[in-house]
Parts: sequence; C-alpha cells; structure tokens
Amino acid sequence: MSLKELTMQQHRDAERQKFAGVLMSGKISKKTYLRYLVNQHACYSAIENTSFSLPNKKLERSENIIKDINELKLDLKLEFSDNLSNMLTESTLEYVDYVQKISSENDFIAHVYVRYLGDLRGGQMIAKKVPGNGFYYQFEDSNNLAKDIYSKLNDDMAEEAKKVFNFATQLFIEMYDVMIQQDE
Ligand code: HEM
Repeated sequence: MSLKELTMQQHRDAERQKFAGVLMSGKISKKTYLRYLVNQHACYSAIENTSFSLPNKKLERSENIIKDINELKLDLKLEFSDNLSNMLTESTLEYVDYVQKISSENDFIAHVYVRYLGDLRGGQMIAKKVPGNGFYYQFEDSNNLAKDIYSKLNDDMAEEAKKVFNFATQLFIEMYDVMIQQDE
C-alpha cells in the first residue's frame, strides 16, 4: 500500500465537495478566491513556523500565497494594510492550533504530504482555473521537490494524513457556505 491508496477515500471526499467544483469551474469570484487564499495562508504559515523542517525549503508556500493575496487586494481595490483575519474560518483556526501542537516528525510529514504534494500534483490543475498569477502553485524544480517528500513517507502516517484531509474538506464546506450566504 502507499499513502495515496490509504487516503484515497479522503481525497475523493475532498474532491467531491461543491467548493472543489467551484475552484475548478474557472468562474470562482475574486472575493471568494481571496477568502480561500487567506485561509490557506494561515494553514501554511502554521506549518512553516513549527520547530520541524520541510523536506526542502523550496517547498515553502506562505510568501507565494501572500503575493497572490496582494495581487487580488489590488484588483479588488482593497488596502494592502487591510487585515483579512475576519475571513478565517472555524476549521482554519482549529487547524492552526492543531499544527502548533504537533509533537512528532512523522505527524509533521503527514501534513507536508497532504498539503505540499497535493499542490505539486492536483494543485497544478487548479492553478489554470483560478484568478491571478497563481504564485501559490509555482514550484522551482517540482519533480525533485516531490521526490524529497516521497523519501520521508511511510504508511504509518496514514491516520494523521486522513486528519489533514478532513480539515481541508471542512474548509471546502465552510467556503461554500460563506460563498452562498454572501451571494458571491
Ligand atoms: C479541487 C479539488 C481537487 C482536485 C481536482 C485534485 C486533483 C488531484 C489530482 C489530479 C492528483 C494527481 C493524482 C495522481 O497522481 O494520480 C491529486 C493528487 C493529490 N492530491 Fe488532490 N485534488 C483536489 C483536492 C485535494 C485536496 C483538498 C487535498 C488535500 C489538502 C489534496 C491532496 C492531494 C495529494 C496529497 C495528492 C498526491 C497523492 C499521491 O500521489 O500520493 N487534493 N489531486
């Protein structure tokens, strides 16, 4: 078995969410995508600020996501200084708290697998459909970065990886709900 097989059901659950369809539709509004990026930024900042290290520093996403956020702010005529923390959802706040408490390298790598390998793989499809330059999805030397992640994986990480997928799915649910509420 591989982590991919062990978490296939969780990946499928995430992909089946209505918000996954919105991301892939080519029609997501800038405001909704901005909210998504603000939430992703909080998640990645949390991962990139633990005492554990990413398998390769080039995987780091926080600054790239900030570039996308700033581009959208400009586009939407928002002030750079605008604090968008009111866009953070409940599951993001929970996730940030969760990541800060990770106490083993194995658990940390499970988060790296779900987030960063996801961006290196499926993320490349999403990149073509969302507003802006998509710095978030641009990696230097992506094949080697994927290898660096694979070299750290073992099947014992499956349970933690499933939790990470569940957080991501929860965010998709929240994102869709807010989008409908706000009529975006
Ligand atoms: C819009 C929704 C999504 C789409 C369309 C999508 C699509 C894909 C595709 C096409 C692949 C490559 C599959 C392959 O290599 O055979 C992939 C891989 C992956 N995706 Fe997604 N995905 C989505 C959501 C997510 C989410 C929310 C996560 C987790 C946060 C995620 C994590 C992953 C991971 C970890 C892999 C690599 C699996 C492996 O090779 O071990 N995906 N995705």
